[in-house]
Amino acid sequence: MADTLTITDNRTGQTYEVGITDDTIQALALRDIKVEEDDFGMMSYDPGFKNTAACESSITYLDGERGILEYRGYPIEDLAERSTHLESAYLLINGRLPNRHELEEWTGEIMSRSMLHEKAKNLMGGFRADAHPMGVLVSSIAAMSTFYPEAKEVNDEAVRMRQICRIIAKLPTIAAYSLRHRLGWPYVYPNTSLGYTGNFFHMLLKKPEQSYEPNPVFEKALDLIFLLHADHEQNCSTTAMRTIGSSLADPYSATAGACAALYGPLHGGANERVLGQLQRIGSKDKIPALIERVKQGEERLMGFGHRVYRNYDPRARIIKKMADEVLDQSADTPLMELAKELERIALEDDYFVERKLYPNVDFYSGIILHAMNFPADEFTVLFAIARSVGWLAQWHEMMSKPVLARPRQIYRGGRERRYVSIDER
Ligand code: CMC
Repeated sequence: MADTLTITDNRTGQTYEVGITDDTIQALALRDIKVEEDDFGMMSYDPGFKNTAACESSITYLDGERGILEYRGYPIEDLAERSTHLESAYLLINGRLPNRHELEEWTGEIMSRSMLHEKAKNLMGGFRADAHPMGVLVSSIAAMSTFYPEAKEVNDEAVRMRQICRIIAKLPTIAAYSLRHRLGWPYVYPNTSLGYTGNFFHMLLKKPEQSYEPNPVFEKALDLIFLLHADHEQNCSTTAMRTIGSSLADPYSATAGACAALYGPLHGGANERVLGQLQRIGSKDKIPALIERVKQGEERLMGFGHRVYRNYDPRARIIKKMADEVLDQSADTPLMELAKELERIALEDDYFVERKLYPNVDFYSGIILHAMNFPADEFTVLFAIARSVGWLAQWHEMMSKPVLARPRQIYRGGRERRYVSIDER
């Protein structure tokens, strides 16, 4: 027997049979359910898309109940252990792991595009020194579309691939320049021989009068943080990317929109807030008072909870393990101890247990980035560098069969009101 769902409309007594595939029904099938022939038909209501599949995708598998995350079918734990960010980027975008030659070519394609047009550099020089780096990133990446007009040819796969490489390549350069701009340091051109993450550190930290060698522990740790954040299926920013891309906008504009979505504290801005929360409480004896405020609904425990994970976030587990290695290189361990104690207390508390609230990837990443001396307001920029890979993989996939995103609404406002002239109001 075919998988179907039988729906009886108790308003009319009519029965409808709707096909089921992958535990899902087609929302448009509901449109046939009507009381009067000229009715619009039934819709489903789902603010925040809590139970709506908006696309089919073969990129990232996520089982929030079991705490499973896979890129193209490869468990995140394996990739974290054995792959690199750029190799995983190839996997996410092309659907398979590269052989040695393909990886070299891919790395070359990206590294050779890491330089910024001088005029883009000048544009970035116009920001105030205290500009939030995410504001700088959103604007700079949007401006990039004016430098690469060919990007509008979104139906041309070769053109698409070129922009994908450009965006992955240039985000670290934009991020490094925005930090140096704040410090008043001159911009440093990329050194392509250092690899993706090593070159990022070089562009960030190299002083003109000194030579510079990236710290290998920090380089490995940041590369892993990039890899772990590279994709997470249909999250808020990826949905923004697909939505903007569905109007056939160029990928720089779509990426700017995705960056803007990431900026918010409930999404990519969370690790900045985690650090702020930990620094504010300062010591272990203040944890119970924080937990109480959270339970009273006065604030949220940042870095806890997830829309999809109802079990431990597997990325948080990997990051927590890596944290000790990084913190060995840093004098600043009290925050880590505070975080571990906060996690322990929260996970024993009924409030968190009942709501299945566990640490997410951001709970420990902020502490690690802080230990590497990144300013807290740069954290989301680092997340954007990593997630650009996922955004672009999802955009590329969506572009093989684009459907304009245009949801429906339930209108609650007034109707047919009479316009009253301003003197009579
Ligand atoms: N602290 C305290 N209570 C929480 C938290 C939290 N961090 N998260 C959820 N809750 C409570 C919430 O108050 C609600 O309780 P009640 O049922 O009594 O009203 C219940 O748990 C369900 O919450 P929700 O808001 O319906 O859940 P959601 O799936 O919409 O929220 C979330 C997901 C990530 C927005 C939320 O857990 C949150 O605000 N966490 C803190 C911010 C954070 O760490 N964000 C990073 C997410 S991971 C990185 C990323 O993917 O961007």
